Amino acid sequence: LMNRIDYGGRVAVITGAGAGLGRVYALEMARRGARVVVNDLGGARDGSGEGSAAPADQVVAEIRALGGEAVANYDNVATSEGGENIIKAALDAFGRVDIVVNNAGILRDKSILKMEPDNWNAVLAVHLNGAYNVTRPAFKAMKQNGFGRIIMTTSAAGLYGNFGQTNYSAAKMGLVGLMNALKLEGKKYNIKVNTIAPLAASRLTEDIMPPDIFARMKPEYVAPMVLYLASDACEETGAIFNVGMGYYNRTAIMTGPSIQLGEVGNPPTPEQIHGNWEAINSMKGALESEDLNAALGALMAPPAAASGGEKPAGGNRLDVQAV
Ligand code: NAI
Repeated sequence: LMNRIDYGGRVAVITGAGAGLGRVYALEMARRGARVVVNDLGGARDGSGEGSAAPADQVVAEIRALGGEAVANYDNVATSEGGENIIKAALDAFGRVDIVVNNAGILRDKSILKMEPDNWNAVLAVHLNGAYNVTRPAFKAMKQNGFGRIIMTTSAAGLYGNFGQTNYSAAKMGLVGLMNALKLEGKKYNIKVNTIAPLAASRLTEDIMPPDIFARMKPEYVAPMVLYLASDACEETGAIFNVGMGYYNRTAIMTGPSIQLGEVGNPPTPEQIHGNWEAINSMKGALESEDLNAALGALMAPPAAASGGEKPAGGNRLDVQAV
Protein backbone atom coordinates (compact mmCIF):
# COMPACT_ATOMS: atom_id res chain seq x y z
CA LEU A 1 0.00 0.00 0.00
CA MET A 2 1.43 3.39 -0.96
CA ASN A 3 1.50 6.19 1.58
CA ARG A 4 -1.17 8.80 1.14
CA ILE A 5 0.04 11.87 -0.77
CA ASP A 6 -0.38 14.72 1.68
CA TYR A 7 1.28 18.13 1.53
CA GLY A 8 1.26 18.79 5.28
CA GLY A 9 1.30 22.57 4.96
CA ARG A 10 3.72 22.77 2.05
CA VAL A 11 3.22 25.91 -0.03
CA ALA A 12 2.32 25.61 -3.71
CA VAL A 13 2.37 28.40 -6.28
CA ILE A 14 0.24 27.56 -9.29
CA THR A 15 0.25 30.01 -12.19
CA GLY A 16 -2.85 30.39 -14.33
CA ALA A 17 -4.84 28.64 -11.60
CA GLY A 18 -8.04 30.63 -12.11
CA ALA A 19 -9.38 28.19 -14.70
CA GLY A 20 -8.80 24.95 -16.58
CA LEU A 21 -6.03 22.62 -15.43
CA GLY A 22 -4.49 25.03 -12.90
CA ARG A 23 -7.78 25.42 -11.03
CA VAL A 24 -8.08 21.67 -10.55
CA TYR A 25 -4.44 21.37 -9.40
CA ALA A 26 -5.08 24.14 -6.85
CA LEU A 27 -8.28 22.59 -5.49
CA GLU A 28 -6.86 19.08 -5.20
CA MET A 29 -3.57 20.17 -3.62
CA ALA A 30 -5.46 22.31 -1.10
CA ARG A 31 -7.75 19.38 -0.32
CA ARG A 32 -4.61 17.42 0.60
CA GLY A 33 -3.20 20.04 2.93
CA ALA A 34 -1.19 22.36 0.68
CA ARG A 35 -1.37 26.12 1.19
CA VAL A 36 -1.86 27.54 -2.28
CA VAL A 37 -1.13 30.77 -4.13
CA VAL A 38 -3.74 30.94 -6.88
CA ASN A 39 -2.16 33.15 -9.54
CA ASP A 40 -4.21 34.29 -12.53
CA LEU A 41 -4.43 37.63 -14.29
CA GLY A 42 -7.79 36.75 -15.76
CA GLY A 43 -7.09 37.76 -19.35
CA ALA A 44 -8.52 36.51 -22.63
CA ARG A 45 -7.47 33.23 -24.26
CA ASP A 46 -5.01 35.10 -26.52
CA GLY A 47 -3.64 37.14 -23.60
CA SER A 48 -5.36 40.34 -24.66
CA GLY A 49 -7.70 42.51 -22.58
CA GLU A 50 -7.69 44.18 -19.20
CA GLY A 51 -7.56 41.14 -16.99
CA SER A 52 -9.79 40.38 -14.02
CA ALA A 53 -9.46 39.34 -10.39
CA ALA A 54 -12.58 37.16 -10.65
CA PRO A 55 -11.04 33.82 -11.77
CA ALA A 56 -8.36 33.70 -9.03
CA ASP A 57 -10.79 35.02 -6.39
CA GLN A 58 -13.34 32.39 -7.25
CA VAL A 59 -10.86 29.52 -6.95
CA VAL A 60 -9.66 30.88 -3.60
CA ALA A 61 -13.31 31.00 -2.44
CA GLU A 62 -13.80 27.40 -3.57
CA ILE A 63 -10.70 26.29 -1.64
CA ARG A 64 -11.78 28.14 1.51
CA ALA A 65 -15.25 26.57 1.23
CA LEU A 66 -13.51 23.18 1.39
CA GLY A 67 -11.69 24.29 4.55
CA GLY A 68 -8.40 24.80 2.68
CA GLU A 69 -5.90 27.67 2.73
CA ALA A 70 -5.26 29.85 -0.30
CA VAL A 71 -4.52 33.40 -1.40
CA ALA A 72 -5.18 35.01 -4.76
CA ASN A 73 -2.57 36.77 -6.86
CA TYR A 74 -3.23 38.61 -10.12
CA ASP A 75 0.30 39.31 -11.33
CA ASN A 76 1.43 38.72 -14.89
CA VAL A 77 3.95 35.87 -15.21
CA ALA A 78 5.29 37.47 -18.41
CA THR A 79 7.29 40.13 -16.54
CA SER A 80 10.12 39.65 -14.07
CA GLU A 81 8.38 41.97 -11.55
CA GLY A 82 5.27 39.81 -11.93
CA GLY A 83 7.27 36.68 -11.17
CA GLU A 84 8.90 38.32 -8.13
CA ASN A 85 5.49 39.47 -6.85
CA ILE A 86 3.96 36.01 -7.22
CA ILE A 87 6.69 34.45 -5.08
CA LYS A 88 6.53 37.39 -2.65
CA ALA A 89 2.81 36.69 -2.26
CA ALA A 90 3.66 33.14 -1.13
CA LEU A 91 6.38 34.32 1.27
CA ASP A 92 4.16 37.08 2.71
CA ALA A 93 1.15 34.82 3.23
CA PHE A 94 2.80 31.54 4.18
CA GLY A 95 6.53 32.19 4.76
CA ARG A 96 7.86 29.66 2.26
CA VAL A 97 7.62 28.17 -1.23
CA ASP A 98 7.87 24.42 -1.81
CA ILE A 99 6.08 23.77 -5.09
CA VAL A 100 5.77 25.70 -8.35
CA VAL A 101 3.53 24.61 -11.18
CA ASN A 102 4.28 26.70 -14.27
CA ASN A 103 0.90 26.40 -15.95
CA ALA A 104 -0.24 29.85 -17.15
CA GLY A 105 -0.72 29.93 -20.88
CA ILE A 106 -2.23 31.64 -23.91
CA LEU A 107 -2.63 30.75 -27.57
CA ARG A 108 -2.11 32.78 -30.74
CA ASP A 109 -2.15 30.24 -33.57
CA LYS A 110 -1.14 31.38 -37.06
CA SER A 111 0.87 29.90 -39.89
CA ILE A 112 4.41 31.27 -40.15
CA LEU A 113 3.81 34.04 -42.73
CA LYS A 114 0.98 35.42 -40.59
CA MET A 115 2.95 34.95 -37.37
CA GLU A 116 3.72 38.63 -36.73
CA PRO A 117 6.30 39.51 -34.06
CA ASP A 118 3.50 40.49 -31.61
CA ASN A 119 1.99 37.02 -31.70
CA TRP A 120 5.36 35.33 -31.49
CA ASN A 121 6.55 37.49 -28.59
CA ALA A 122 3.34 37.33 -26.57
CA VAL A 123 3.30 33.53 -26.51
CA LEU A 124 7.03 33.22 -25.72
CA ALA A 125 6.59 35.82 -22.97
CA VAL A 126 3.84 33.99 -21.12
CA HIS A 127 4.95 30.36 -21.49
CA LEU A 128 8.75 30.48 -21.56
CA ASN A 129 9.68 33.79 -19.92
CA GLY A 130 6.80 33.21 -17.50
CA ALA A 131 8.33 29.99 -16.21
CA TYR A 132 11.72 31.67 -15.85
CA ASN A 133 10.24 34.74 -14.12
CA VAL A 134 8.43 32.67 -11.48
CA THR A 135 10.92 29.83 -11.07
CA ARG A 136 13.98 32.00 -10.43
CA PRO A 137 12.76 33.69 -7.22
CA ALA A 138 11.11 30.42 -6.15
CA PHE A 139 14.40 28.52 -6.60
CA LYS A 140 16.08 30.92 -4.16
CA ALA A 141 13.54 30.07 -1.44
CA MET A 142 13.63 26.35 -2.26
CA LYS A 143 17.42 26.25 -2.12
CA GLN A 144 17.34 27.77 1.37
CA ASN A 145 14.87 25.09 2.51
CA GLY A 146 16.61 22.18 0.78
CA PHE A 147 13.34 21.17 -0.86
CA GLY A 148 11.55 22.01 -4.08
CA ARG A 149 9.22 20.53 -6.63
CA ILE A 150 8.93 22.38 -9.96
CA ILE A 151 6.63 21.34 -12.77
CA MET A 152 6.83 22.71 -16.31
CA THR A 153 3.92 22.45 -18.71
CA THR A 154 4.94 21.56 -22.25
CA SER A 155 2.67 20.33 -25.05
CA ALA A 156 2.50 17.68 -27.73
CA ALA A 157 2.66 20.62 -30.15
CA GLY A 158 6.19 21.37 -28.96
CA LEU A 159 7.34 17.79 -28.45
CA TYR A 160 6.11 16.49 -31.79
CA GLY A 161 5.00 19.53 -33.87
CA ASN A 162 1.67 21.03 -34.85
CA PHE A 163 0.74 23.05 -37.94
CA GLY A 164 0.08 26.73 -37.17
CA GLN A 165 1.77 26.79 -33.76
CA THR A 166 5.38 27.88 -34.36
CA ASN A 167 5.24 30.32 -31.42
CA TYR A 168 3.61 27.90 -29.00
CA SER A 169 5.71 24.90 -30.08
CA ALA A 170 8.95 26.87 -29.69
CA ALA A 171 7.93 28.16 -26.26
CA LYS A 172 6.84 24.71 -25.08
CA MET A 173 10.08 23.06 -26.22
CA GLY A 174 11.99 25.91 -24.58
CA LEU A 175 10.53 24.75 -21.27
CA VAL A 176 12.13 21.34 -21.81
CA GLY A 177 15.52 23.04 -22.18
CA LEU A 178 14.85 25.06 -19.03
CA MET A 179 14.08 21.83 -17.18
CA ASN A 180 17.16 20.04 -18.55
CA ALA A 181 19.53 22.61 -17.07
CA LEU A 182 17.56 23.25 -13.88
CA LYS A 183 17.33 19.56 -12.96
CA LEU A 184 21.15 19.61 -12.63
CA GLU A 185 21.24 22.89 -10.69
CA GLY A 186 18.57 21.63 -8.28
CA LYS A 187 20.08 18.23 -7.65
CA LYS A 188 22.01 18.92 -4.46
CA TYR A 189 19.13 20.90 -2.90
CA ASN A 190 16.48 18.20 -3.36
CA ILE A 191 14.78 20.35 -5.99
CA LYS A 192 13.12 18.05 -8.53
CA VAL A 193 12.07 19.47 -11.89
CA ASN A 194 9.73 17.59 -14.21
CA THR A 195 7.57 18.41 -17.22
CA ILE A 196 4.09 17.33 -18.24
CA ALA A 197 2.43 17.48 -21.64
CA PRO A 198 -1.26 17.51 -20.69
CA LEU A 199 -4.32 16.81 -22.75
CA ALA A 200 -7.51 18.17 -21.24
CA ALA A 201 -10.71 20.00 -22.00
CA SER A 202 -10.41 23.74 -21.39
CA ARG A 203 -11.03 26.94 -23.24
CA LEU A 204 -7.68 26.37 -24.98
CA THR A 205 -8.93 23.14 -26.57
CA GLU A 206 -12.75 23.35 -26.71
CA ASP A 207 -12.93 24.35 -30.36
CA ILE A 208 -10.27 21.98 -31.69
CA MET A 209 -11.53 18.67 -30.21
CA PRO A 210 -14.48 16.54 -31.37
CA PRO A 211 -17.31 16.88 -28.76
CA ASP A 212 -17.33 13.18 -27.72
CA ILE A 213 -13.61 13.18 -27.02
CA PHE A 214 -13.85 16.57 -25.32
CA ALA A 215 -16.29 15.05 -22.78
CA ARG A 216 -13.70 12.51 -21.63
CA MET A 217 -10.94 15.05 -21.21
CA LYS A 218 -11.43 16.23 -17.68
CA PRO A 219 -8.48 18.02 -16.03
CA GLU A 220 -9.09 15.60 -13.13
CA TYR A 221 -7.25 12.95 -15.20
CA VAL A 222 -4.17 15.17 -15.47
CA ALA A 223 -4.12 16.45 -11.88
CA PRO A 224 -3.05 13.18 -10.16
CA MET A 225 0.26 13.21 -12.08
CA VAL A 226 0.93 16.82 -11.15
CA LEU A 227 0.01 16.08 -7.52
CA TYR A 228 2.47 13.18 -7.46
CA LEU A 229 5.31 15.15 -9.10
CA ALA A 230 4.70 17.97 -6.57
CA SER A 231 4.83 15.65 -3.55
CA ASP A 232 7.60 14.63 -1.16
CA ALA A 233 7.14 11.09 -2.47
CA CYS A 234 8.45 12.04 -5.94
CA GLU A 235 12.10 11.07 -6.49
CA GLU A 236 12.01 11.65 -10.24
CA THR A 237 13.72 14.62 -11.89
CA GLY A 238 14.26 15.76 -15.46
CA ALA A 239 11.51 13.67 -17.02
CA ILE A 240 8.72 14.49 -19.48
CA PHE A 241 5.31 12.82 -19.19
CA ASN A 242 2.33 12.79 -21.55
CA VAL A 243 -0.81 12.90 -19.42
CA GLY A 244 -4.48 12.86 -20.35
CA MET A 245 -7.78 10.97 -20.44
CA GLY A 246 -6.40 8.39 -18.01
CA TYR A 247 -3.31 7.62 -20.14
CA TYR A 248 0.21 8.20 -18.83
CA ASN A 249 3.58 7.72 -20.54
CA ARG A 250 7.10 9.10 -20.51
CA THR A 251 8.82 10.62 -23.53
CA ALA A 252 12.46 11.69 -23.92
CA ILE A 253 15.14 13.10 -26.19
CA MET A 254 16.86 10.03 -27.62
CA THR A 255 20.22 9.78 -29.37
CA GLY A 256 21.12 7.20 -31.99
CA PRO A 257 24.48 5.43 -32.39
CA SER A 258 27.42 7.49 -33.69
CA ILE A 259 29.47 6.68 -36.74
CA GLN A 260 32.88 8.26 -37.21
CA LEU A 261 33.99 9.72 -40.53
CA GLY A 262 37.26 11.40 -41.54
CA GLU A 263 40.57 11.39 -39.70
CA VAL A 264 42.65 13.84 -37.67
CA GLY A 265 43.51 16.74 -40.00
CA ASN A 266 41.29 15.32 -42.72
CA PRO A 267 37.56 16.14 -42.20
CA PRO A 268 34.97 14.17 -44.14
CA THR A 269 33.32 15.49 -47.31
CA PRO A 270 29.60 16.23 -47.84
CA GLU A 271 29.62 13.25 -50.22
CA GLN A 272 30.67 11.02 -47.33
CA ILE A 273 27.75 12.39 -45.28
CA HIS A 274 25.43 11.57 -48.18
CA GLY A 275 26.99 8.14 -48.62
CA ASN A 276 26.60 7.27 -44.93
CA TRP A 277 23.14 8.76 -44.52
CA GLU A 278 21.42 5.58 -43.45
CA ALA A 279 23.86 5.04 -40.56
CA ILE A 280 23.89 8.71 -39.49
CA ASN A 281 20.10 8.84 -39.57
CA SER A 282 19.64 5.58 -37.67
CA MET A 283 17.97 5.55 -34.26
CA LYS A 284 18.76 1.87 -33.75
CA GLY A 285 19.42 1.23 -30.08
CA ALA A 286 18.87 4.92 -29.30
CA LEU A 287 19.44 5.92 -25.69
CA GLU A 288 18.71 8.96 -23.57
CA SER A 289 21.46 10.91 -21.81
CA GLU A 290 21.48 12.34 -18.32
CA ASP A 291 23.33 15.49 -19.36
CA LEU A 292 25.59 16.83 -22.12
CA ASN A 293 28.65 15.02 -20.77
CA ALA A 294 26.89 11.69 -21.14
CA ALA A 295 25.60 12.55 -24.60
CA LEU A 296 28.84 13.99 -25.98
CA GLY A 297 30.96 11.37 -24.26
CA ALA A 298 29.20 8.77 -26.34
CA LEU A 299 29.66 10.87 -29.46
CA MET A 300 33.38 11.36 -28.95
CA ALA A 301 34.47 8.08 -27.38
CA PRO A 302 37.26 6.28 -29.27
CA PRO A 303 35.77 4.69 -32.40
CA ALA A 304 34.94 1.00 -32.25
CA ALA A 305 36.45 0.48 -35.70
CA ALA A 306 38.64 2.85 -37.73
CA SER A 307 36.57 4.75 -40.29
CA GLY A 308 32.84 4.19 -40.40
CA GLY A 309 32.95 2.22 -37.15
CA GLU A 310 29.60 2.08 -35.39
CA LYS A 311 29.37 2.63 -31.64
CA PRO A 312 26.47 2.03 -29.33
CA ALA A 313 24.31 5.05 -28.50
CA GLY A 314 24.67 6.85 -25.17
CA GLY A 315 26.75 5.09 -22.54
CA ASN A 316 30.26 6.50 -22.15
CA ARG A 317 30.85 9.57 -20.04
CA LEU A 318 33.50 12.10 -20.90
CA ASP A 319 33.97 15.51 -19.33
CA VAL A 320 33.07 18.21 -21.80
CA GLN A 321 33.11 21.70 -20.33
CA ALA A 322 31.46 23.56 -23.17
CA VAL A 323 30.19 23.13 -26.69
P1 NAI B 1 -6.83 27.82 -19.62
O1 NAI B 1 -6.90 28.92 -20.59
O2 NAI B 1 -8.11 27.21 -19.13
O3 NAI B 1 -5.99 28.28 -18.34
C1 NAI B 1 -4.84 29.06 -18.46
C2 NAI B 1 -4.93 30.17 -17.42
O4 NAI B 1 -3.71 30.92 -17.47
C3 NAI B 1 -6.07 31.14 -17.65
O5 NAI B 1 -6.93 31.19 -16.52
C4 NAI B 1 -5.39 32.46 -17.91
O6 NAI B 1 -6.09 33.60 -17.37
C5 NAI B 1 -4.05 32.27 -17.21
N1 NAI B 1 -3.01 33.14 -17.75
C6 NAI B 1 -2.78 33.40 -19.06
N2 NAI B 1 -1.77 34.26 -19.18
C7 NAI B 1 -1.35 34.56 -17.92
C8 NAI B 1 -0.32 35.40 -17.41
N3 NAI B 1 0.45 36.11 -18.25
N4 NAI B 1 -0.15 35.48 -16.07
C9 NAI B 1 -0.95 34.77 -15.24
N5 NAI B 1 -1.94 33.97 -15.67
C10 NAI B 1 -2.14 33.86 -17.00
O7 NAI B 1 -5.89 26.69 -20.27
P2 NAI B 1 -5.48 25.18 -19.83
O8 NAI B 1 -5.89 24.28 -20.92
O9 NAI B 1 -5.88 24.91 -18.45
O10 NAI B 1 -3.89 25.29 -19.95
C11 NAI B 1 -2.99 25.19 -18.87
C12 NAI B 1 -1.60 24.92 -19.42
O11 NAI B 1 -1.57 23.63 -20.05
C13 NAI B 1 -1.12 25.91 -20.47
O12 NAI B 1 0.27 26.13 -20.28
C14 NAI B 1 -1.34 25.17 -21.77
O13 NAI B 1 -0.50 25.63 -22.79
C15 NAI B 1 -1.02 23.76 -21.36
N6 NAI B 1 -1.57 22.75 -22.23
C16 NAI B 1 -2.90 22.48 -22.23
C17 NAI B 1 -3.39 21.49 -23.06
C18 NAI B 1 -4.81 21.10 -23.01
O14 NAI B 1 -5.15 20.08 -23.65
N7 NAI B 1 -5.66 21.82 -22.30
C19 NAI B 1 -2.52 20.77 -24.01
C20 NAI B 1 -1.15 21.09 -23.89
C21 NAI B 1 -0.70 22.06 -23.03
